[in-house]
Amino acid sequence: MKILVVYATTEGQTRRIARFVAGRLADRGHGAELLPVSDAEEIDWAGVDAAVLAGSLHMGRVQADLAAFAAEHAAALTARPTLFLQVSLAAAGTDPEEHAEIERIAEDFCAAAGWRPGRIVQVAGAFRFTQYDFFRRWAMRHIAAQKGEEVDPGQDREYTDWEALAALFDAWPEDSG
Ligand SMILES: Cc1cc2nc3c(=O)[nH]c(=O)nc-3n(C[C@H](O)[C@H](O)[C@H](O)COP(=O)(O)O)c2cc1C
Repeated sequence: MKILVVYATTEGQTRRIARFVAGRLADRGHGAELLPVSDAEEIDWAGVDAAVLAGSLHMGRVQADLAAFAAEHAAALTARPTLFLQVSLAAAGTDPEEHAEIERIAEDFCAAAGWRPGRIVQVAGAFRFTQYDFFRRWAMRHIAAQKGEEVDPGQDREYTDWEALAALFDAWPEDSG
């Protein structure tokens, strides 16, 4: 199958995740095309069998350019097996309220675009202190402290569960019915 993997990233973790997903699909013989959303202008949907959209949360929002892409291509997306990967740090935690909140954000993102994905999957992202500017470093230390986590601002920390992602994309899209 030809499968598009379109992603938006701010600090790079969703690019890693999208690359991993495209690689996993390609390993199984699919024609996986990895596209940063900024390059995803002209899509010939006739040759596309399925699509993955991936974006990350910043201040409770997914990247606006991914929202615009989903809205522009909502009909083509809804007509195929599609999956939305929403990357966040809340997904790494165990707070049920935060989990409910990120579920709601993802559902609102899709509804606002008029896109009905076959599946929404929450993926844990990363702290990327080495790439944050002063404001982000400060904000993320504050968030970590609120959760009672000690973070070393000199060090990145990755929470993404690569094994779970691999298992997901060893079955999708064949299991999407
Ligand atoms: C300024 C800033 C704001 C963030 N806001 C949220 C948020 O509202 N909720 C959340 O769960 N994670 C939040 N995060 C964590 C990111 O979603 C996480 O670091 C993710 O891995 C970023 O993905 P990216 O590298 O693809 O941009 C925030 C991160 C930064 C730097």
